[in-house]
Amino acid sequence: MIQQHFSIQHLTTFKFPCTAEVFATFDSEASLIELLKQVPSTTPFMVLGGGSNVLFSPKYSGWILHNRCKGITLQNTSTSSVTIKVGAGETWHDFVLYCVENGYYGIENLSLIPGTVGASPIQNIGAYGVEVKDVIESVEGISLPTFERKTLYNKDCCFGYRDSIFKKELKGKFIITSVTFTLSLQKQLNTEYGAIQSTLKEMQIEQPTLKDISHAVITIRQSKLPDPSVIGNAGSFFKNPEITTHHFASLQSQFPTLPHYPGSRSEYIKIPAGWLIEKAGWKGKRKGNVGVHDKQALVLVNYGEGIGSELISLSKEIQQDVWEKFSIRLEAEVNIV
Ligand code: FAD
Ligand code: EPU
Repeated sequence: MIQQHFSIQHLTTFKFPCTAEVFATFDSEASLIELLKQVPSTTPFMVLGGGSNVLFSPKYSGWILHNRCKGITLQNTSTSSVTIKVGAGETWHDFVLYCVENGYYGIENLSLIPGTVGASPIQNIGAYGVEVKDVIESVEGISLPTFERKTLYNKDCCFGYRDSIFKKELKGKFIITSVTFTLSLQKQLNTEYGAIQSTLKEMQIEQPTLKDISHAVITIRQSKLPDPSVIGNAGSFFKNPEITTHHFASLQSQFPTLPHYPGSRSEYIKIPAGWLIEKAGWKGKRKGNVGVHDKQALVLVNYGEGIGSELISLSKEIQQDVWEKFSIRLEAEVNIV
């Protein structure tokens, strides 16, 4: 059904007010193509999944196409792995729970990430030492402007840290309708991340199962990330920046406890943006209707009555302050529409 002047406020996790000029849903490739043919050529449009990584202004002068493509289909099973094709509109966490229940290893560390399966390749979702690129076989969808059905294999997707071809060359040109994953049937758990190890210890678990890892991740996430059903947010607002080893050495001499991780390129070091924002004095600060979460400084929040532009102003102030204090530019992770 196509609706005019439709509020999408409660279809996003920030819950900022926004009215879309036109709103429509699709549940198959055929219904998506039908809709796309009706969008006037000069009118903008975008696909909305779970709305957990987007920030809207009060008015969207275009078409919002809400993805409801469902279905989980086993494609192949061998003694060691299983290949599963999943509709892009399935809820990511429900798919994780399905895999955990069935003994499919590989995405348990990505438990409780909000949003849809179809958005998971867009920024190559990641948490606790795992990225979704590690298990994606291929991404299927509709290519624009031809409406051709295409499959992109893992290597075609140019996955990087919070990045993929869908955020670059194919931005607005490819609508994902399903994702195919290969998961392991053999026990292989990733418990490298310090917080997972300490949580398992607290849970007094020495030989964790697939379910234990999923529970541990859920416990960690619930202890620091705000629940979007209670307080509006979109997870990390910024990406963790990577700086040169030279820049890192000079910062480390001023801040000997500066946390850091290996960067994705040699000669680069990744710094937690949450640490920079906290050190700059922003953690827990409120500005009108928006603010910085008190348990995780990388998460910016809407206290309920805010509008998108207030949060954008706050994010710019933080970026400027971090730049002045550390000479590091923070880049937004959230898609600002
Ligand atoms: P949306 O917000 O609906 O869309 C995001 C972008 O993708 C938009 O540009 C949209 O147009 C595009 N898009 C969506 N679906 C499609 C499609 N089918 N085809 C083409 N384009 C599409 N992310 C992490 O990586 N790791 C985390 O640990 C994490 N934790 C979070 C915790 C919280 C509390 C919240 C609120 C968010 C968190 N996120 C995290 C961010 C978010 O959950 C992910 O980015 C998620 O994949 C977004 O999915 P979505 O369906 O909500 O996408
Ligand atoms: N830190 C602080 N103060 C803070 C927050 C963090 O000092 O307020 C420092 C601490 O040193 C902490 C370190 O930052 O040890 C890392 O913090 P955390 O483990 O919470 O992870 P993060 O780097 O802040 C990233 C992802 C999250 C993901 C977690 C777990 C990005 C941008 N964010 O956050 O993803 O869940 O790691 O793997 O990479 C998201 O993308 O929306 C998201 C939530």
